[in-house]
Amino acid sequence: MTTKLDVNGARRRVDAPADTPLLWVLRDQLDLTGTKYGCGMGLCGACTVHVDGQAVRACQTPLSSVAGKRVTTIEGLGKPDALHVLQRAWQAEDVPQCGYCQSGQLMSAAALLARKPKPSDSDIDAAMAGNICRCGTYDRIRRAIHRAAAELRSGRPA
Ligand code: FES
Ligand code: FES
Repeated sequence: MTTKLDVNGARRRVDAPADTPLLWVLRDQLDLTGTKYGCGMGLCGACTVHVDGQAVRACQTPLSSVAGKRVTTIEGLGKPDALHVLQRAWQAEDVPQCGYCQSGQLMSAAALLARKPKPSDSDIDAAMAGNICRCGTYDRIRRAIHRAAAELRSGRPA
């Protein structure tokens, strides 16, 4: 079956069974390997992407459900020469350790900031609760989200 979708601003056609998880379409067919496989059960958040601006677990999202929708992966969040405000904050706070969970963390954080420009600690904890980091970078993630939110509000680097 052929499914049309928009991935990182480009129209794509994918030939795969309707129930193929979006994660495997992204990684194996579209070569977008920034989105990671962790648990495959919707529990860890490593595979988080946006569908029409909402954070979803790509491992639990069948291809058929994203037909005609806008999918954004970590590759589409920012570019090396034009990083997203959160990616700059991640660098400034030196967030990643092994890095494996971080694209999912960034996608969840970006969805949070889009709907809540001034998140409290509890907003952050609630929004990020489904993103597991085995390296324990949670405190730095929280600081980076506050930094990015401050930059967005002021229009200046925090
Ligand atoms: S790999 Fe999708 S939530 Fe863990
Ligand atoms: S940085 Fe290693 S799992 Fe999060």
